Amino acid sequence: MQINKRSNWFRTSILASALMLGSTTFAQQVTNLPKPDLTAQSTTMIEALATRHSVREYASTPLSKQELSNLCWAACGMSRDDNHRTAPTAMNRQEIRLFVFDKEGVYEYDAKGNRLVQKATGDKRELLAGNGGGGFKQDFVMQAPVSLLMVIDFDIFGSEGEKAMQMGCVDAGNVSENINLYCQAVGLVTVPRATHDTAALRKLLNLSDKQLPILNNPVGKPKE
Ligand SMILES: Cc1cc2nc3c(=O)[nH]c(=O)nc-3n(C[C@H](O)[C@H](O)[C@H](O)COP(=O)(O)O)c2cc1C
Repeated sequence: MQINKRSNWFRTSILASALMLGSTTFAQQVTNLPKPDLTAQSTTMIEALATRHSVREYASTPLSKQELSNLCWAACGMSRDDNHRTAPTAMNRQEIRLFVFDKEGVYEYDAKGNRLVQKATGDKRELLAGNGGGGFKQDFVMQAPVSLLMVIDFDIFGSEGEKAMQMGCVDAGNVSENINLYCQAVGLVTVPRATHDTAALRKLLNLSDKQLPILNNPVGKPKE
């Protein structure tokens, strides 16, 4: 693959520095997103609040790179300056990490860089569909072209314990509600979910016990 190759929608590059994971060298693929379109057509906030509802079926149509950029930005992108996000966090710790799952792989949203950093290849949406171990499972998650996973990072938050857990959960809820309302406003559909396979996600994303997958939102276009 060529470095810094431009296309209409995005540029893909390989990070110059490879991450050392144990004895394995892993070069992360980076996808630059188009600038979020803050003029995208939407309903009013009042209408979005009045009509927001959970939807559990989706058209298979993928989201465009622009739609994905807008969605990630609405969730927890940089807002009024380079130290504030669209979703508030306790003490502005910005400890909620956002991962994007699609048919091709899993990526972490880098809000400052407005880009996606690939974390895994292949379709891993299954890990969001169910709790794992043959437990509760919701197959509709596999229909949604993308799912957004919120992870509380207690290393970034700077402490652990009951209060940190409370703040992390509230902050993740803020991100999820941004997604819910944004989707409603622009004609996308979603549902906030606490179901996912925490252990398998930690393994896949190389997370420690200081990083907790907490909520996810499958997102798509309405099924006709
Ligand atoms: C924290 C939280 C966890 C949820 N987890 C799930 C879930 O795992 N699966 C699901 O189908 N819906 C889940 N929901 C969606 C709720 O069932 C839904 O929001 C609720 O029934 C109210 O419906 P409404 O969103 O249409 O107003 C969750 C909602 C919240 C806020």
